[in-house]
Amino acid sequence: MAGTDLLQWRRQQLAHGGSAVDLDWLLDLAGGVRWASLQRLLLDPTRTISLEQSLEVLSQLWEQHLQGNVPLQHLVGLCPWRDVLLESSPAALIPRQETEVLVDLALSQFKTTPPARWADLGTGSGPLAVSLARAWPTSPGHGVDLSSDALRLAERNLQRCAPHHYCSLHLGSWWTPLKVWWGRLDLVVSNPPYIPSSVVDGLEAVVRDHEPHMALHGGEDGLDAIRAVVDGASTGLSPGGWLLLEHHHDQSILVIQLMRDAGLVQVSAAADLEGTLRFALARKPAATS
Ligand SMILES: C[S@@+](CC[C@H](N)C(=O)[O-])C[C@H]1O[C@@H](n2cnc3c(N)ncnc32)[C@H](O)[C@@H]1O
Repeated sequence: MAGTDLLQWRRQQLAHGGSAVDLDWLLDLAGGVRWASLQRLLLDPTRTISLEQSLEVLSQLWEQHLQGNVPLQHLVGLCPWRDVLLESSPAALIPRQETEVLVDLALSQFKTTPPARWADLGTGSGPLAVSLARAWPTSPGHGVDLSSDALRLAERNLQRCAPHHYCSLHLGSWWTPLKVWWGRLDLVVSNPPYIPSSVVDGLEAVVRDHEPHMALHGGEDGLDAIRAVVDGASTGLSPGGWLLLEHHHDQSILVIQLMRDAGLVQVSAAADLEGTLRFALARKPAATS
């Protein structure tokens, strides 16, 4: 189609509301108009451009997003995350960009030798499990979630993005389904629900009304899930094993203290790409002979 027609359609859609960043994301993921092609078109509107979806369908999706606050990832069914394109659905939290850092933190603890066995507690759609399975194709991994719908989505994402994965999925609460491997997990990552009760109701409608409550709500002070994960670490981890957690933007001091109180060592905080302390790292003490 003529580039001028697409740019005119884009202006019309933005006049209804929403942000250009979101509309361009929709054009890319649903329409097949890559960001770089769109930039070239903006510089030279005389170009032609091919679309993978009709403008009518794209207009409907945009309308659903604006009117119903439906996340674009749910409408398109996809979410780009690190180097993969994950399937996304209302069954699980939409993977967040900040969580990508948790993978880098995990990889940097195991630069020379991969963990003998790892786990992702609260795996959701499986972004962390997929990334770790791709990074360490010969190390067995485990993804755990209390939601069977989320686990079905995680399984599809593992098949899709890490087809030769060595990761099994388990239905249950935190460390419980992994009992047979307690004491043998060299690495456990978790991005658990950590939003305090008082904050959950005030979340934007696009989050509050479309993402699973179980993926967001961390109890009265937001730390219920984090306490459960930290409490299980000294039993579940192998000697010297690492626990890496994501938490809310204002929980760093509390989470660090929980880790110390649980007898973990080498406790430290790490920042997200905006400089906010959003991650906590700690180890189970190595065995003494
Ligand atoms: C914040 S989401 C994170 C999902 C995924 N790891 C990610 O980063 O996109 C938290 C996940 O923990 C799961 N969850 C909540 N309570 C749980 C429990 N008691 N045991 C295991 N998983 C739980 C939720 O179903 C949800 O998938």
